[in-house]
Amino acid sequence: MNEADRIWDELENIYSQWGIEENPFSESASNLGVSRLREVFTGRSRELKDVLSLFKGRERKRVLVYGWIGIGKTAFILEILDILQRKAAKTLTAYISLPANTDLATIALVALAREMREDEWAQQLLNQMGLISGQPLRQREITGKVGFAGSSAEFKDKRIDINKPLFPELSFEDLLKRALEKYDRVVIAIDDLDKQDPATVKKLLLNAQGMLKSGAWFILTGHPSGLTRDIVISERGLFDFSIKLEPLEQNIMYQMLVNYLNSVRSEECQYSVEDEQAVKPFTPDTAKMLCERSSGVPRWLNRLGSYILQKASELNAEIITPEILQEGFIYANQQVRGQLGLTPMDFMLLDLILEKGKLSDENITLEELQRLQVQEFSEILPRIDQLIQLDLTRRLPNEEAMEFGPTPLLLPSEESET
Ligand SMILES: Nc1ncnc2c1ncn2[C@@H]1O[C@H](COP(=O)(O)OP(=O)(O)OP(=O)(O)O)[C@@H](O)[C@H]1O
Ligand SMILES: [Mg+2]
Repeated sequence: MNEADRIWDELENIYSQWGIEENPFSESASNLGVSRLREVFTGRSRELKDVLSLFKGRERKRVLVYGWIGIGKTAFILEILDILQRKAAKTLTAYISLPANTDLATIALVALAREMREDEWAQQLLNQMGLISGQPLRQREITGKVGFAGSSAEFKDKRIDINKPLFPELSFEDLLKRALEKYDRVVIAIDDLDKQDPATVKKLLLNAQGMLKSGAWFILTGHPSGLTRDIVISERGLFDFSIKLEPLEQNIMYQMLVNYLNSVRSEECQYSVEDEQAVKPFTPDTAKMLCERSSGVPRWLNRLGSYILQKASELNAEIITPEILQEGFIYANQQVRGQLGLTPMDFMLLDLILEKGKLSDENITLEELQRLQVQEFSEILPRIDQLIQLDLTRRLPNEEAMEFGPTPLLLPSEESET
């Protein structure tokens, strides 16, 4: 047997000892697939009720779902769409993630046309735009400008090539009319509105006012950065309802962990949350430690969970003891620090954030600013924004001031050397 064979068998062996088929964790809800998401989706009862009850009304609504990165916006709206598709009569649902450089009317048009497979005109529209229905948009990596307004931060962003229709709003209206001949309700979810800089999004939204007032339901998602808050409280009335997703309670996170693990166990081996086996290979104690460390943010539970299982399998650990858990945290720290695109200056900034625990305009010293080669705190905001996108930094809950802290994926330098 060659070395690769041996390693593969060893991995199979440890996973079967754990009673799971594979590593169940995933960074983004859009990678999960509907049926898997249905199995693992946990909590958010109140928020689901709030949004679903809107669909009991006849009047169409425009809904904004907002929350910090990784909090579960995509998971939430996919769950809503899934339920509507399964349970609501004569409802057409469409989901799309907003790519850079595309206006909302064009992207709503694409989303809708893709769901109208039988409609020749819709398919023709897609063809004209160089898109094949039912196929993912062609994506290519380019370097673009993203971040806080006026920033010069450059990083990789996904763009797609679409031959934009001449009058996207009109095309959308026409297509919507056709859809509404067959359906009572059309729901279009446009995800990731805020993954571009606030000024652009603001313009996009203002330009899309006509479309947003058309006969379709809209669900949009974004981050609660200056922009979204602006839009939420503005008098423009772009949205009828907005809902903020907050970090989840510890017991919900524990249930979530159980759901993820059950989703990769055989049907005969489904455990209830009270059962100690439910968190295997974790022990109830290390499972709780993981949940606590995830601070109520589903993506952090997923990323940490995934790294811990990888490390534990590498160490051939049958049980995740507190020591193995710590090894997993160290591994997670190494992996997130090793992400592409980080400069020595970013590391300096990260270490400063770790050292201080909390970084803001108030507590940064002149000398620290100099070290970061800037004169004002605002100049480092684009860099911080990038660190937030990479799960290295988080905005701390403070409505008044901008305060930033490390995410639980990071460890202080001393701790990571043990
Ligand atoms: N309520 C939930 N139950 C189970 N898993 C969840 C839940 N919410 C989020 N997740 C999982 O957490 C991870 C991150 O969630 P998601 O992708 O929805 O975050 P997001 O808010 O859309 O992030 P981003 O701001 O980067 O778009 C995904 O793997 C997702 O499946
Ligand atoms: Mg998302």
